[in-house]
Amino acid sequence: MRPIMRFPHTPVLVKEVLSLLITDKEGIYIDGTAGTGGHSEAIAALLGKRGRLLCLDRDPEAVVIAKERLSSYRVDVIKANYALAEIVLEQLKIKEVTGILLDLGMSSLQLDLSGRGFSFLKEEALDMRMDPGDGETAADVVNSLSQGELARIFRVYGEEKKAGLIAKAIVGARQKTHIKTSLELADIISSVLPPHPRRKTIHPATRAFQALRIAVNRELALLEEFLTKAPALIKSGGRLAVISYHSLEDRMIKKTMALWERPCSCPPDLPACVCGLTPVFLRVNRRAIRPSQAEISENIRSRSAILRVAERV
Ligand SMILES: C[S@@+](CC[C@H](N)C(=O)[O-])C[C@H]1O[C@@H](n2cnc3c(N)ncnc32)[C@H](O)[C@@H]1O
Repeated sequence: MRPIMRFPHTPVLVKEVLSLLITDKEGIYIDGTAGTGGHSEAIAALLGKRGRLLCLDRDPEAVVIAKERLSSYRVDVIKANYALAEIVLEQLKIKEVTGILLDLGMSSLQLDLSGRGFSFLKEEALDMRMDPGDGETAADVVNSLSQGELARIFRVYGEEKKAGLIAKAIVGARQKTHIKTSLELADIISSVLPPHPRRKTIHPATRAFQALRIAVNRELALLEEFLTKAPALIKSGGRLAVISYHSLEDRMIKKTMALWERPCSCPPDLPACVCGLTPVFLRVNRRAIRPSQAEISENIRSRSAILRVAERV
């Protein structure tokens, strides 16, 4: 593998992903969130001659980097939304795959280098779209939604206790001037939120920025859409591995995997199942897998990662 420092994103839980996802080295796999190709490269290097990897990302800039990085492997790098993976498979005349990896959230490329306003520490146009050709920017959202709608975004997607206060401050600020940059927004948020009482290193705008990014990119809706399709995409014995970085995503994955494992909808007092629903996926690990202390000290951004894996029945 080429040295990872050439690429702006350090992949997390790589060893764990490889050992839990790859059940057949000659199988077909999808990396649904290829980013700059860290996981993809590790998977591609492990696959046998007949193995195949489809690398999807919605971010055109990531696709260019991944294509270059993976040029010596037998992979297809495609600009696509993982929630529409079935269309990619149809176009490639592939019926089902042996495994799918999703490594959710944003990449270091997007946060540090994209210039698209993902970071509250940088003066950049407030865009936040992973695919700059798709939908409204974060500036459109903060300058147009009602105070109530903004508060809901911060509360639901950021689990931000001061959601109402932030929304009010934004609406007050935009009456004076259009909010255009990430730093302008971060300053508006900071002006009404005191620093975290114990963890002073956490920026007050952390949760609000996360919430806005999730809303702009419809991240939870797309994950939900993908999860409803996953059983039809993965063949029997194949696996789904998902790495999430916050509790909203992890709760959705955990709940869905539990339901896949026990879909029976019969009342618990019935002596035998009459609904006929049988397991779709079985969890490979009861407990979620988290990075070791060693990995966290090498890559601080891995600290909130949670990996869950399920196997198609
Ligand atoms: C955490 S990064 C993945 C990093 C990657 N595993 C690596 O090793 O470089 C998440 C990536 O998922 C992409 N992404 C997020 N939602 C997506 C979606 N619905 N469809 C396709 N890509 C998506 C983002 O653009 C970003 O590049």
